[in-house]
This record gives sequence, structure tokens and C-alpha cells, in this order.
Amino acid sequence: MLAYRHAFHAGNHGDVLKHAVLLHVLEYLNLKEKGWRFVDTHAGAGEYALNSAVARKKAEYAQGVAPLWGRKDAPPLVGRYLAHLAKANPSGSLRSYPGSPAIARALQRHQDDLRLFELHPSDVRMLAMRLGRGPGVEVARADGFEALKAVLPPPTRRALVLIDPSYELERDYARVIATLRDALARFAEGVYIVWYPQVGRVAARELPRRLQAIAPKGWLHARLTVQQPDARGFGMAGSGVFVFNPPHTLHAALAQALPWLHENLRQFDGGSWLLDQRAV
Ligand SMILES: C[S@@+](CC[C@H](N)C(=O)[O-])C[C@H]1O[C@@H](n2cnc3c(N)ncnc32)[C@H](O)[C@@H]1O
Repeated sequence: MLAYRHAFHAGNHGDVLKHAVLLHVLEYLNLKEKGWRFVDTHAGAGEYALNSAVARKKAEYAQGVAPLWGRKDAPPLVGRYLAHLAKANPSGSLRSYPGSPAIARALQRHQDDLRLFELHPSDVRMLAMRLGRGPGVEVARADGFEALKAVLPPPTRRALVLIDPSYELERDYARVIATLRDALARFAEGVYIVWYPQVGRVAARELPRRLQAIAPKGWLHARLTVQQPDARGFGMAGSGVFVFNPPHTLHAALAQALPWLHENLRQFDGGSWLLDQRAV
């Protein structure tokens, strides 16, 4: 049984980067009428109560979304994300944190559909309860790496796939690459977002280079480093997102957002951000 529960990490700096990018891409897809499919291979529980005992245990949101909440000077990519969070928290205080499935559900129109996969029995139950009843939404307890095969290509040939494993198992890094190779052979035009943690493992360090090597056409890589690893070199210094076939608007939006995020989320006198792309 896997131990990872996203509730412990909801709203941390990794979520801020990932979800701000996710929202930008979904809003971009909504500029056209034609329906899209959103596939979340590792969906989590959907939404998280930040005042729950689990979320408060590590309180990672305290150094993630919390210091950004209510800020009026955020660059547009972050401003949109904060406005989205504000809608999810109409009381005015930040209590509920929407995960990737909830963000996609909020942006979903009648012509769009969601395919959400999660392996943890409790999290998939909560996900199904919270979001599974919507029209065009299917939730399944399944291995997302495998399940992706059956849902590509989508009938409309427009899709966004989020691959967001917990990387609890070392083999997850290799599975990301194998899964993407297979997915691209089925559907090369899709938008794919891979999130990865910046940790000491060699496989984590090598992941961006391996993703670049299999990218079909355009790609974008953004990374935000805000924390110092502990004395033994453990801990998540930051995280990155690697996007295949990104919207042409994403690079400029991140070029504004990353310096601001770095300045406001760094937990020590250092850290960095990186933005790189191959445009087509
Ligand atoms: C980082 S969390 C997902 C967070 C979510 N995408 C979000 O942004 O709100 C990773 C999730 O993957 C689940 N998981 C781990 N291995 C899996 C697999 N092979 N297939 C599907 N889910 C898996 C874990 O239980 C965990 O809930």
C-alpha cells in the first residue's frame, strides 16, 4: 500500500506552480468552442480542507499558497490562480484548496470531459464523492500510467493530460517516460504537463533532460527552487513542470510569474527559477 496522501502537501509551493500552470492551459483551451478532454493520471482526493488535522500536520500550505492569499500585486498568471482560489473560498478565508481535478471541473464546459485516475482507496472514494457525479466526469480506481492508454486520443482530438505522480517509488520516473512515449504515439498533438519534485535522486535530476529527448515538437520547462535541502541532502528544494505542446502564451506568462513567485515563496536567502522552451 502506498503511504503518500496529497492532503499532507496540499497548497505547497509545488502545488502553486503546478496549479497556476494548469489553470492557464485550461483557460487557453477554453478560448475555442471545441471540447477538450482532461486526463489526470494521478488525481488525488480532488479538494482539501486546509483546517483538517492532516493538512495542519505539516502545514506545507503555510509556505506555499498562504503567503500569496489576498495579494493584489501578483502577475497575471498567479493573479488568475488566486482569483480561482477566491471563488472556491467565498467566505473570504482560505479554508479549501482545490486540487487539479477540482480546477478542471470548475473550467469544464458541457462539451468537455474529465477522466480521473487514482490508486489510493480512500482518496479515490473522496474524489468520486466530490467530483464523480458531474456530467462528463469519470473517476476510476486505476493505475494512471496504464489507464491513460484507453482514453487517448479523445474524440475531439483536443486534450490536456496531467501526469503528477507522488514519485514514492523510484520507478515512477521511468514510468513517466514510458507512459509519455506510448501516449505520444497515440496522440502527439495533446498538451501534456508533467510535474516533478526537485530532490536529490539522480532520476529526478535527469527527468527534464529525458523529457526533452522525447518531446515531439514544442516544449516548455519551468522550475522554482525555494527551499534548502536538509543537512543530509534530503527534502524537496523545489519543483518543476515540463509541458509538451504548451500554449504559445505560457512562456511570457511564466517569465513574469516566476521571479515574483521566487521572491515571495523562497524560504532562505537563495533559491532560483528557470524557464526554458523550444518553440515551434
Ligand atoms: C501528487 S498527488 C496528486 C495531486 C493532484 N494531481 C493535484 O494536483 O491535486 C499523487 C497521487 O497519485 C496517487 N498514485 C500513486 N501511484 C499511482 C498510480 N500508479 N496511479 C494512479 N494514482 C497513483 C497517490 O495516491 C496520490 O494521490
